[in-house]
Amino acid sequence: MSDAAAADIVPPRGDRPRVLSGIQPTFQLHLGNYLGALRHWAREQDSYDNYFCIVDLHALTAVPDPELVRNSVLELAALYMACGLDPERSVLFVQSHVAAHAQLGWILECYTPLGWLERMTQFKSKAGAGRERERAPAGLLTYPDLMAADILLYDADYVPVGDDQRQHVEISRDIAQRINSLRGEVFRVPEPLIRSTGARVMGLDDPTTKMSKSTALTKAGHAILLLDLPDTVRHKIGRATTDTNPSVGEPIGPGVANLLEIHASLRGTSREEALAQFAGKSYGALKSAVTDAVNEALEPVQKRYYELRADEATLRGILARAAERAATVANVTLLRVQRAVGLR
Ligand code: TRP
Repeated sequence: MSDAAAADIVPPRGDRPRVLSGIQPTFQLHLGNYLGALRHWAREQDSYDNYFCIVDLHALTAVPDPELVRNSVLELAALYMACGLDPERSVLFVQSHVAAHAQLGWILECYTPLGWLERMTQFKSKAGAGRERERAPAGLLTYPDLMAADILLYDADYVPVGDDQRQHVEISRDIAQRINSLRGEVFRVPEPLIRSTGARVMGLDDPTTKMSKSTALTKAGHAILLLDLPDTVRHKIGRATTDTNPSVGEPIGPGVANLLEIHASLRGTSREEALAQFAGKSYGALKSAVTDAVNEALEPVQKRYYELRADEATLRGILARAAERAATVANVTLLRVQRAVGLR
């Protein structure tokens, strides 16, 4: 195909900036994912041209059970939609359904100095050291190239992520710039979109660390999962770490601050308002109010989720159409890169 012909089939980009983000289909989403990411993505859908990816190829780096991967992909797709992502306004697609991700990933690996990959924080922590590292899957090392492929294939302007993913967006930029300087202007260089406002939800059991999916797997009291039953939510919040103050008041410890933050974020108030509302109240009263706020927010999400899961054929149909839309965009970029590096 000529470049002109390829350009003809690029869907019009429109005026809105394009965003692309991804979540791994491993473990259930938790309240931190919802308040810190998904809820914003859903609310801002009309301001952007949206691509949200279920990154199942990345999930393989943790070598999970095949049935677990298959189920988690559908679970995450249904949760994306239950949280308000609308398949009409956002392309909600599965990474492995669009072959260009793996194809571009390989090319990027060949243009990425090994030292850059070895220096990544996530690689160092996940791959361990010594004998453990020798047995670690090679995909942990090349993970950033696949993530860069996800982003660069769509000429994304912005990549909405949490602060923990900043380094991965930075390396994507570095890789794009390196290829641009060696092979001509091949890639649009993306910017991270990291929210300074909005909730940063901490672990209920340890309010000094961010609520995390992997910790949730090993410690039941760490996170509220989006599909937790109301009683489970009550139990987990009841056991959340507070401090030895007799009631809500200065100095506010990190556990209490976290509960106030969750309440404020769900009820749409500021932190100051939440503090004023609960000042002098017992921790029991605060926890009960937070529990109610969480359960009220999760109820419609869960209802929608179970409706979507009950009709798996429709869900699969949505993903299949989204993969086609995504591939139309991705394949044009892939062809451009293949030409630039001498493959066509
Ligand atoms: N690495 C991201 C995470 O662990 C997931 C991810 C994969 C991603 N590809 C992406 C995020 C592309 C943003 C854009 O959370």
